[in-house]
Amino acid sequence: MLLRSRITGTGSYAPEKVLGNFDLEKMVDTSDGWITERTGIKERRIAKGIQSASDLGVEAAKKAIHMAGIMPKDIDMLIVATMSGDMPMPSTASIIQEKLGIKNSPAFDINAACSGFIYGLEIADSFIKSGKFKKVLLVGTEVLSRFTDWEDRTTCVLFGDGAGAVIMEPTKRNRGIVSMQLHSDGSLWDLLCVPGGGSRHPASKETVKDRLHYIKMKGNKTFKVAVKALESLVVNTLKANKIKPSQIALLIPHQANLRIIQAVAKRLHLPMSKVVVNIDKYGNTSSASIPLALDEAVRAGRINDGDYILLEAFGGGLTWGAALIKW
Ligand code: UT7
Repeated sequence: MLLRSRITGTGSYAPEKVLGNFDLEKMVDTSDGWITERTGIKERRIAKGIQSASDLGVEAAKKAIHMAGIMPKDIDMLIVATMSGDMPMPSTASIIQEKLGIKNSPAFDINAACSGFIYGLEIADSFIKSGKFKKVLLVGTEVLSRFTDWEDRTTCVLFGDGAGAVIMEPTKRNRGIVSMQLHSDGSLWDLLCVPGGGSRHPASKETVKDRLHYIKMKGNKTFKVAVKALESLVVNTLKANKIKPSQIALLIPHQANLRIIQAVAKRLHLPMSKVVVNIDKYGNTSSASIPLALDEAVRAGRINDGDYILLEAFGGGLTWGAALIKW
């Protein structure tokens, strides 16, 4: 019997501070009407000054560990998906490992921007199926507010802070990850990036003056590529597994823009009642958005044993990917 990997615990955390669209109206030339109509976002969460990506990730991880009924010491691999980690080095995974008291596990970060959680799922799935690791903690955590240019209305209305986590374990039952699809088109990397602070433009007075440490996005071009890529991604993922869209109990998309989410649902002829949407509350939390939405769906009792659920994401890189799961 082949081993499969299964999600046995989920958790999420969002900072308390809420920044609403009306607050943003006082900061830049925008309106609640424009943000709501173009994105579906009403508010987003902002981390406290002392909170970094590892702090948010730890809170989400604790809840996932509790749901799985295991102890931190049982975890034998720790992966963190983030593009806003505590610092360039060491990895945020190492810092979370220390904060949770996890001993003797490898720990590393991956950066596939908003697709990071999906990339992490495939990595965890492969290691579990190989038999090498048995209890993997996968965290998606972001404090994007520190990389947001609060003077740029084209981006500052979009992003928020949050974290989500899952525990993955092997199973011999007909449950768990059925199929993964990962993609990247590096020729489009400059549509969405944080240009400063790396080895190409190390931090300097000039990079600060030129605002290179903030997220830059060519939004409209990214939007068009995202819709096209995600539509064919979900159709191909289901086709490859001989699953009809009507068999999908729940679609859990990355929350970047409500119009993108609706376009993908429409392509699959899925009613919006079968789609998890929480972008109105959190905005775009990059690699945290799918595990946050998944955790909310699990705790609301929206997923039952044996349900097919489909996760999909799109982000900087450009990267995109999907996971088909039998719960
Ligand atoms: O998670 C990673 C992947 N991210 C995505 O997939 C996001 C993809 N992009 C988007 O979600 C959308 O492109 C945005 C929400 C970012 C923008 O929506 P859009 O419908 O593509 O608008 P646009 O960029 O074409 O801008 C339309 C107009 C422009 O004015 P003009 O040139 O028509 O006069 C913008 O200057 O809206 C203006 N605008 C704003 N107006 C009020 C841009 N941002 C704002 C704003 N408030 N915050």
